Amino acid sequence: MMRQVIRFMTRRSQQFIKQARGQSRLKAPFWGNNIQTTQGTSVLLEKHIKKRKKHMASWEKVLGGKGLEKMGNHGKAASPGKFAGLVLGALAVSIISFGYVSVTDAQTIRRTLKPADKRNPLPEIVSGYYFANAETRALQDDDFDNPGFLWIEAGEQLWKKKDGKAGKSCASCHKRAKDSMKGVATRYPVYYKPWGKMINLVQRINECRTKKMKAKRWKYESNEMLSLSAYVAHQSRGMPLNVAVDGPEKPFFEKGKAYYYTRRGQFNIACNQCHEGHYGNKLRADLLSQGHANGFPAYRLAWQKLGSLHRRFQVCSSLTRARVLPKGSDTYVNLELYIKWRGNGLPIEVPAVRR
Ligand code: HEC
Ligand code: HEC
Repeated sequence: MMRQVIRFMTRRSQQFIKQARGQSRLKAPFWGNNIQTTQGTSVLLEKHIKKRKKHMASWEKVLGGKGLEKMGNHGKAASPGKFAGLVLGALAVSIISFGYVSVTDAQTIRRTLKPADKRNPLPEIVSGYYFANAETRALQDDDFDNPGFLWIEAGEQLWKKKDGKAGKSCASCHKRAKDSMKGVATRYPVYYKPWGKMINLVQRINECRTKKMKAKRWKYESNEMLSLSAYVAHQSRGMPLNVAVDGPEKPFFEKGKAYYYTRRGQFNIACNQCHEGHYGNKLRADLLSQGHANGFPAYRLAWQKLGSLHRRFQVCSSLTRARVLPKGSDTYVNLELYIKWRGNGLPIEVPAVRR
């Protein structure tokens, strides 16, 4: 019986992969109508919407009743003992009931880091990669199959493309991204004097577009911005996140932290309750990760495209039925700073692949 469940779920996730692969074979231009009309997309979306309706109904049960009590960790880090229990529990869950995690998957050794900063509430730091199923990880591992690379390639073109009244491209000033952009994404968001507040990579790119190129700013979630910001971040792949928080960033860091630990929404639940208190546990079809940012912009199979970190924030906010804030809002940039700090030391994985 158990085997059948595992086999069934594996087949389901293989369907996902096939759809994603089919898409990665599309020829340029890859965004726009092409993607919308692939058979995979509509089927996947329909399934997704149906699943989501069910999902929400069961959520109310989980979070409205006793489940919430159990989930309320009130911001305290899991004690080591409890943590060991969680890991064992998670392993057991993966083997017994977590359908699409195969047995070999459960034997995967998770690479964990000890946080360098003592203030980090996490007992260990684990990339979201290790919470993804084997097929999703395989997609990420293979640069040819990884559909996120379509955006990276488009980003490379945009890097060289002249735009705006100054008649310049990024390359006109920054030359080879391989050299000039290496390591940049590990430091962002940074404090930006002209604004007197934090700026993230997306906003920094728009600064260069408007101020240096005299070109139009791109929308936050436009394909152009996703591609170019992913291309820039990709130049830091494998390098550890290393955001600073103790200089002029401090007040913004504190704001981000406060947001992270504040319960909100109809379910009255905070980020930490899922990503600090319950990582490694199964939430419906997902294995909860620590909610790190090192893979973003990431290709999400459910989106069928690359998406920004702030889009992920919006999804998580709506999971709890909290108010969704605009991408690029001060609050989300501060939150970005805070969660990147939690993940300091994690290698950048852009473009990561997630379910
Ligand atoms: C006219 C020259 C010029 C052009 C064109 C230009 N930039 Fe810049 N960029 C700069 C300068 C100069 C800086 C250093 C910060 C400053 O003084 O504003 C900078 C800073 C940056 C940074 C921050 C680097 C860091 O270490 O913090 C990024 C990222 C960046 N640019 C990306 C881009 C991208 C992407 C494009 C193309 C869309 C682009 N720039 C176009 C001149 C340019
Ligand atoms: C109800 C539980 C829940 C809450 C509360 C929640 N999330 Fe999530 N989050 C998820 C699930 C489920 C996923 C997808 C699986 C995973 O990576 O955990 C996710 C994924 C993420 C990811 C992507 C991780 C990766 O490696 O792909 C980030 C970043 C994230 N969440 C941040 C947040 C932030 C910030 C908040 C608070 C505003 C928050 N989450 C609140 C459930 C939650």
